[in-house]
Amino acid sequence: MKILVIGSGGREHALAWKIAQSERIQTVFVAPGNGGTALDSRLQNVNITDLHELVEFAKQEHIALTVVGPETPLAAGIVNLFRDNGLKIFGPTREAAQLESSKDFAKAFMKRHGIPTAEYQTFSDAQSAHRYIDERGAPIVIKADGLAAGKGVVVAMTLSEAHDAIDMMLSDNRFGDAGARVVVEEFLAGEEASFIVMVDGKNILPLATSQDHKRLLDDDAGPNTGGMGAYSPAPIVTPELHARVMREIVIPTVHGMAKDGCHFTGFLYAGLMIDDKGHAKTLEFNCRMGDPETQPIMARLKTDLLSVFEHAVNGTLDSIDLEWDRRTALGVVMAATGYPDAPRKGDQITGIPAETHDCVTFHAGTTLHDGKLSTAGGRVLCVVGLGDSVKMAQNRAYQAVEQIHFDGMQFRQDIGWRAIKRRT
Ligand code: AMP
Ligand code: GLY
Repeated sequence: MKILVIGSGGREHALAWKIAQSERIQTVFVAPGNGGTALDSRLQNVNITDLHELVEFAKQEHIALTVVGPETPLAAGIVNLFRDNGLKIFGPTREAAQLESSKDFAKAFMKRHGIPTAEYQTFSDAQSAHRYIDERGAPIVIKADGLAAGKGVVVAMTLSEAHDAIDMMLSDNRFGDAGARVVVEEFLAGEEASFIVMVDGKNILPLATSQDHKRLLDDDAGPNTGGMGAYSPAPIVTPELHARVMREIVIPTVHGMAKDGCHFTGFLYAGLMIDDKGHAKTLEFNCRMGDPETQPIMARLKTDLLSVFEHAVNGTLDSIDLEWDRRTALGVVMAATGYPDAPRKGDQITGIPAETHDCVTFHAGTTLHDGKLSTAGGRVLCVVGLGDSVKMAQNRAYQAVEQIHFDGMQFRQDIGWRAIKRRT
């Protein structure tokens, strides 16, 4: 069987790596892929990103099933296009992907369906937004409505930061159309967790829980990034909290989408803020898996992922259970110098250790030329260690990190600190 994975990040490397472990796999194509997917003999990179060309490729190669990693092709309607061409694909339609591609859509949806989230208002006029901010006071959160590659959220601790964010988005149009409307919402305090499920339109299959580290530097300092590391499971998500999030957030979301005539299929990722009483509110929805959460989650998945995707596209996710490695998996992202603003490319990468039963390195911004690996993006690698405790998984990951080198590499030393603190 031939499978196509769309994307080029660490998330897609991890998905393709896991799918390729199925005995029924002939080839896993990755479009466009990266240096790591190029190195793996079971995977094959395809240098196509145009959606119509991908449809032609899937037809020619008789691709049995396509899995979409990132949000951009989803928001552009890749699922609609593949389905219109009679091709099987796992992901949300363009309409359903608005849960991620429009913050205003997601907030209005949550309000309509009584799903816990921060209070908000949406503005396209700067003056009204400034007035509202003055009324509400700081801290307050300003979000560009559209996709802004993780840069469209300003958590303003002071009124002047909040007003600057409004000026940047609504007056200076820094994010173009994506920032033509802004959501201004209540600041929520607490600890974040990533709650990811698979949805086939009707049935919901939760994946293992995870947490990521969004800030660039140790002690959660520095600018927000796409994620500097992640681990699974997330001890903050107790079985009670898990049941409650399913009941109050995930099930009402899937049912609400169906009620609104927009059946959700694909990965649904609720970014949660959990307060000190253990109550969760939704910070955001993503319509895809998290990156880097996918890397530790895939490292723990024991079930054949191909069969999971088959159930997902056939509407039978209720007929399977997922089996997880009981160990903790912890991934450390190694990023290029200049990340997240202006990552440098072209540095040679050496020393990546071979995969073992307790360590695997997934590639993101890497490229392979004449047998040599070099950096080609902001987040370069995600090194995943597995261990019986968070501490052991962390030690294993950092042992491998120590062996890897590229000029300018930056990584956090403290991935997993919240989970370790919770356990001790
Ligand atoms: P989002 O893309 O909406 O998840 O926002 C990016 C990051 O901003 C989140 O991961 C949080 O760290 C932070 N954030 C977003 N919304 C809020 C909020 N209402 N209160 C506090 N922090 C927030
Ligand atoms: N790691 C956060 C995200 O994928 O959005």
